[in-house]
Amino acid sequence: MLDAGCGTGENALLVASLGLPVLGVDVAETALATARKKAAERGITAEFAAADALALELLDRTFATVLDCGLFHTFDHDERVRYVASLASVMDDGALLYVLCFSDEGTDIGPHPVSRAELRAAFDSGGAWDVTAIEPERVETRFHGANGAPAWLATIKRV
Ligand SMILES: C[S@@+](CC[C@H](N)C(=O)[O-])C[C@H]1O[C@@H](n2cnc3c(N)ncnc32)[C@H](O)[C@@H]1O
Repeated sequence: MLDAGCGTGENALLVASLGLPVLGVDVAETALATARKKAAERGITAEFAAADALALELLDRTFATVLDCGLFHTFDHDERVRYVASLASVMDDGALLYVLCFSDEGTDIGPHPVSRAELRAAFDSGGAWDVTAIEPERVETRFHGANGAPAWLATIKRV
């Protein structure tokens, strides 16, 4: 699994703790250092590397599963076009992408909310993606209450 924009690695470490091979990438070296420290402290084997999610082709690897928790919504329109092409370069046909991003529906909306239509449109390029589901979710943040912020959990297949 590839965790794109892994931050300090909580999601990557959870998946790795299940015994699955995981690479977490981020542009923030400080976050990666924390992720590596957590992995060592918890005795979990997981790989963390500095990489730009807009240029994943530089990894020269492919992944059956890609997780994006809180990254997609930070990109503007042009960056999303680059990001989707970058994701395509590391996902073979049948690979699954899970995106958890802020949504524009509900109360206590987070910064950079994304509409369902925007999310779908980003993956509407030339039949390369099948947006299987976009479900309402909640996402924890450091600045929302216990109930978090409204989010979308999108399941997107590379076809
Ligand atoms: C909101 S945090 C989410 C962190 C983690 N996924 C989580 O769920 O806790 C977004 C992360 O994306 C990273 N990021 C932003 N732009 C990036 C890029 N172009 N390539 C890789 N990581 C990026 C940030 O450094 C930050 O760690």
